[in-house]
Amino acid sequence: MTNKSPRHVISSSTSSDAPDSPALNTSIANENDTTLIANKFSNITLAEREERQKALDRLEILKTVGTGSYGRVLVAQDRESSVYYALKIFSITHVVQSRQVEHVKSEKEILSGINHPFIICLHWTHHSDQFLYMLLDYVPGGELFTYMRKRGTFDLKSSLFYISEITLAFEYLHSLQIVYRDLKPENILLDAEGHVKLVDFGFAKKILNKTFTTCGTPDYLSPELFKGTGHHKSTDWWSLGILLFEMLTGYTPFNPNQNEIEIPSRVLAGRISWPRTIDDVTKSFIKKLLIQNADKRLGAGKNGSREVKEQAIFSSIKWDDVYARKLKPPIVPPLEHPGDTSCFDEYKEDWRSVPFASDKDLDLFADF
Ligand SMILES: Nc1ncnc2c1ncn2[C@@H]1O[C@H](COP(=O)(O)OP(=O)(O)O)[C@@H](O)[C@H]1O
Ligand SMILES: [Mg+2]
Repeated sequence: MTNKSPRHVISSSTSSDAPDSPALNTSIANENDTTLIANKFSNITLAEREERQKALDRLEILKTVGTGSYGRVLVAQDRESSVYYALKIFSITHVVQSRQVEHVKSEKEILSGINHPFIICLHWTHHSDQFLYMLLDYVPGGELFTYMRKRGTFDLKSSLFYISEITLAFEYLHSLQIVYRDLKPENILLDAEGHVKLVDFGFAKKILNKTFTTCGTPDYLSPELFKGTGHHKSTDWWSLGILLFEMLTGYTPFNPNQNEIEIPSRVLAGRISWPRTIDDVTKSFIKKLLIQNADKRLGAGKNGSREVKEQAIFSSIKWDDVYARKLKPPIVPPLEHPGDTSCFDEYKEDWRSVPFASDKDLDLFADF
């Protein structure tokens, strides 16, 4: 599939620890030969640790299907069951140096506690003296991003399919007081049948009131994130508005010229030029999601996601059918077998040689 230039993520650091100097020794790790690290401070029993190590050793690592600013995702096959998985790995030294310790831990905590048809399933986490590991279901259909760039735009019916499934995922997360904070087509994957799986919980956070760390991808950031005045669940509804606009037009509303520098001022000015192809009902829905004042935005009221689901744009949608995966996916990924990687881009396999983590850095992940 086509290559893409990645959209950047912004993340203010959340780790208060000063970064260590990098360990000097680097090595070529063999996936069959990772050392078992059992830390004396861990809450995880040695037996559990050994189980995870065995499960890791059983995996045959096949290839990279995704990279981000902090992690890399590899397809792997369990040699016993033949099941394919996605193994998300992070270099421990890199996570510490880029001050993403809290984000990675929170990704694990949040994913461990959730279960929803449109959200990725995490099986276990583990670490070696170089890497953190998260074993996820493999979602073979690839990124919605790839299909968007290939097709240019989606029609309204197709867009509503994706928006509906994401709305239910957000409703579920928000009911657990979790904000997702990184909605964009790169983090929306299609499963073998074409239904949505939301991945990448690196910026997701459990919040009771407001939170202040700025993170996300410029095109999708809400005004309160640019202002740093604190944000809550309604920042996710903002990003849903951006996504719908991007699906229908092929570009995001505050970055029509593909010039990231202009985004903050355009978002804060809140002016959008509306193409004539967007009908009035859709326009009014997107406008309500893109209300500047986060407390007045659609979805921010006390009825939360119900406000969103009751909008005219969804009048033909039966929400029980959406949850039951009964809507017909507009795209069925062209897959030949469950481990097919043809829907993903190609990446260099240059990940094995990373520094060993220092004992101090390893201690940070004793429970991982
Ligand atoms: N479970 C998965 N199955 C298949 N591909 C995945 C899976 N999780 C992530 N990916 C791919 O890897 C990319 C990077 O993963 P992501 O979790 O978004 O990491 P990052 O935090 O580095 O952005 C995703 O955009 C997607 O293409
Ligand atoms: Mg991502």
